[in-house]
Amino acid sequence: MCTFAFMKKLYIETYGCQMNFADSEVVAAILKDMFEVTKEVEEADLVLINTCSIREKAEQRIHKRLQELESLKRRHHGMQVGLLGCMAERMKEELLQTEPVLDFIAGPDAYRSLPQLIADSRNQGPRFNVMLSEEETYEDIIPVRYDVNGVSAYVSIMRGCNNFCSYCVVPYTRGRERSRSPKTILGEVEQLLRDGFKEVTLLGQNVNSYHWEDDRVGEMTFAKLMAAVADLSPDLRVRFATSHPKDISDELIETIARYDNICKYIHLPVQSGSDAVLKRMNRSYTRDYYMGRVRKIKELMPDCAISTDIIAGFCGETLEDHQQTLEVMREVGYEYAYMFKYSERGGTLSAKRYADDVPDEEKTRRLEEIIALQGELSLVSNQRDLGKTFRVLVEGASKRSADYLYGRNSQNKVIIFPKGNHQIGEYIDVAVKDCTAATLFGD
Ligand code: SAH
Ligand code: SF4
Ligand code: F3S
Repeated sequence: MCTFAFMKKLYIETYGCQMNFADSEVVAAILKDMFEVTKEVEEADLVLINTCSIREKAEQRIHKRLQELESLKRRHHGMQVGLLGCMAERMKEELLQTEPVLDFIAGPDAYRSLPQLIADSRNQGPRFNVMLSEEETYEDIIPVRYDVNGVSAYVSIMRGCNNFCSYCVVPYTRGRERSRSPKTILGEVEQLLRDGFKEVTLLGQNVNSYHWEDDRVGEMTFAKLMAAVADLSPDLRVRFATSHPKDISDELIETIARYDNICKYIHLPVQSGSDAVLKRMNRSYTRDYYMGRVRKIKELMPDCAISTDIIAGFCGETLEDHQQTLEVMREVGYEYAYMFKYSERGGTLSAKRYADDVPDEEKTRRLEEIIALQGELSLVSNQRDLGKTFRVLVEGASKRSADYLYGRNSQNKVIIFPKGNHQIGEYIDVAVKDCTAATLFGD
């Protein structure tokens, strides 16, 4: 990246999922001839907030942050503030009225127009571009990895989502599903390898529905793509997120099992353990089908870690439904879970069709039960690892002490161990001596 003294400074703050973090790197790349990235918001000429709409709380946080930026902007003459991401797409130009701090807003498929939006809003007042595209994948853009450890990077392989789970805004904020060409994906990973990276996470809202077909490569499924990435180097670790249970094929599970360097960790969001709730959620699988997939994974890879997403208190969820969710959690024995209270989002199918009828205190109570159970399951899973030795990719210094490093094993568990002479980016074998529900400690 150029760092000429006259270059203006760009500060990017990112909320939401990994896709948003990957997009912020694309944005930094689109603006790299005009701005260099700074970590100090106070010195920025341009502040970009890449937003998330997934739950109401996520949006409230952004509104609060925009208020803080308003006073900063008053003190900093000439500063511009732009809002990107899912909230831009969901609320569109209305945001320019309700949030006067904003100079422009750009939806997830409109980032190529940022230089224009920046210039036009400076000269002519607030601007927006929230056009969604059926083709945009930003595939020719080499992301500027401004905030990574030099070891592990995200690689976007698809955008959008066609699943329309009834509670979810993503199909509306990110538009239709589209896959990026294998050629540009493999090219990006090769470049990362040359730059010394040791791990890539292939990203999409639903990576296992990745699909590409052309005369040169024929038909490319996600399993084939992942194998092609894993074949680039045995020293490269390959991860992926997120998988929809409906698309986790035998071919994919077999591919993960076959490759040593594809991590034995699958994030497989279940959302609920009740068939009635899953149906209203439009998840297109039953509890039985889901458990069948889990059994297949464990049969081929007994050491594979599985994590999940769970929504507590969805429309019409009874106590019995909630109990079934707890049952599934115990049955799978998840290593980790992301757990949420249902938050009604305007415009989604569930907002139109079903009453948000579980009272908030009851949602909280169910969520707390789910969190407590997951705490137990994570602890049990970590205790099972005591005495085992894992290959760990060293990612950085431990936050607790400069004498310790941390890394993750194939199962995505964080392990902390004494620094010794080890370097970030090295693979080392660590014996696990102690644990909490969140972390393993080793030697
Ligand atoms: N594409 C991913 C999920 C992306 S959103 C997948 O399908 O697995 C991440 C998680 O947020 C979802 O899995 C779901 O558990 C949660 N979520 C989405 N919409 C929500 C809502 N309206 N209220 C509460 N949680 C929600
Ligand atoms: Fe949302 Fe469902 Fe798509 Fe995931 S698969 S992004 S939960 S609509
Ligand atoms: Fe949030 Fe958009 Fe990701 S709503 S979770 S940032 S796709």
